[in-house]
Amino acid sequence: MRDFQHICVVGAGFLGTQIGLQCAAHGYRTTLVDLSAAAREKSQQVVTDELNRRIAEGLHDASESSAVQARLTYHDDLEQGVSSADLVIEAIPERLDIKRALFAQLDALTDSNTILATNSSSIKISAIESATERLDRVLNMHFYGMIWDRPMVELMRGSATSDATIQAVYRCAQRIGVTPLVVDRESTGFIFNRVWRAIKRETLHLVNDGVTSHENVDRAWMIFTGMKLGPFALMDRIGLDVICDIENVYYRESSLERDAPPPILTDRVARGDLGCKTGKGFYTYPNPAFEDPQWLKGEVYPLMESPSTDLS
Ligand SMILES: NC(=O)c1ccc[n+]([C@@H]2O[C@H](COP(=O)([O-])OP(=O)(O)OC[C@H]3O[C@@H](n4cnc5c(N)ncnc54)[C@H](O)[C@@H]3O)[C@@H](O)[C@H]2O)c1
Repeated sequence: MRDFQHICVVGAGFLGTQIGLQCAAHGYRTTLVDLSAAAREKSQQVVTDELNRRIAEGLHDASESSAVQARLTYHDDLEQGVSSADLVIEAIPERLDIKRALFAQLDALTDSNTILATNSSSIKISAIESATERLDRVLNMHFYGMIWDRPMVELMRGSATSDATIQAVYRCAQRIGVTPLVVDRESTGFIFNRVWRAIKRETLHLVNDGVTSHENVDRAWMIFTGMKLGPFALMDRIGLDVICDIENVYYRESSLERDAPPPILTDRVARGDLGCKTGKGFYTYPNPAFEDPQWLKGEVYPLMESPSTDLS
C-alpha cells in the first residue's frame, strides 16, 4: 500500500482538531470537516493558539507555523473534504447511530482504497463496519486528548481488517510522531481505557456511596502518583457528557448495575455542568481549587472550628 498523501478528519471538535493538527504538523495535507460553523471557527482558534504557543516556546518558527496552517483546510461539505483522502479518521460524537450513518456516507463518497478509521473511545469498529462494504479497510484508531503530550494511538481490527491496512496506518502513526499500540483481541476500551475505566468506576462509586469527597480522591491520587490532576479533574477536562456517554456504552454491554454511571455524574450532566468547557463540573473554572498549592495539604476540617473540639 502506498504512503498516504491526504488525511481527512471528520468532526473538528476537541479531539478531531488535535488529530488534524498533528497530521498537518507532520507534513500531511489534511482536511477537517465539521457541520457546525461555530465548531470550525473554534477549531481554527485552537490551532492558531497552539501554534503560537509552539512559536513562543521555540518549538516552531513562524514560517513552519504558516506551512502547517496552509496544509490544514476546513470544510462543511463532506464530499469536498474527503475527496482524494487516503485515510479518513472519524471524530464525531460518541453515538453508534450517527457513526454508522457517517461510515455509510464515507463508503459511498470515497475511493474503495481509502481506509476508514474511527477515533471512538468505546465503540468497536465491528459495530460500525457493516455500514460499509470495505471490511478489510476499516479499524479503530484511538488517540488520547492532548495528543502532543500523550503521543500514542491504539489500533484495533474489525472482523476482517487486513494486515496491509494495519501496516499502512502503523507507518502513518509513526510519521505523525505517535506510538502505535496494536490491540490483538477486540476489547471495549482498548488498552489504556480499560485501566482508566476501572479507575473511573471505582472513584465515582467511592464518592457516590458517601465514602469520601471527590477532592480527597484527587488529593490521594495526586500525592501518590505525583500527577498534577486527579481522576475527577481529568473527567472535568475530558467533559462529563463524554464520560457519561462512554460509561453508558460499558453499561449497555455488561447490563451490570455497578457499571451504570452514578447520580454524582448524571446529575451534573443533566444540569449542564460538563466540566472545563462549561466552567463547572466537579470543580469550577478557570481557577479550579486543585491548582492552589495549599489545596493538597487539605482544608480546615469542619470539626476543628467547632468549640466542642476545644481540648484545652
Ligand atoms: N474528548 C476526548 O478526550 C476524547 C478522547 C479520545 C477519543 N474521543 C472520541 O472522539 C470522538 C469525538 O469526541 P470529542 O470530544 O472531540 O467530541 P466533540 O463534541 O468535541 O466534537 C465532535 C464534533 O463533531 C461534529 N459533528 C457531529 N456530527 C457530525 C457529522 N455528521 N459530520 C461532521 N461533523 C460532525 C460536531 O459539530 C462537533 O464539533 C468521540 O467518539 C469520542 O469518544 C474523545
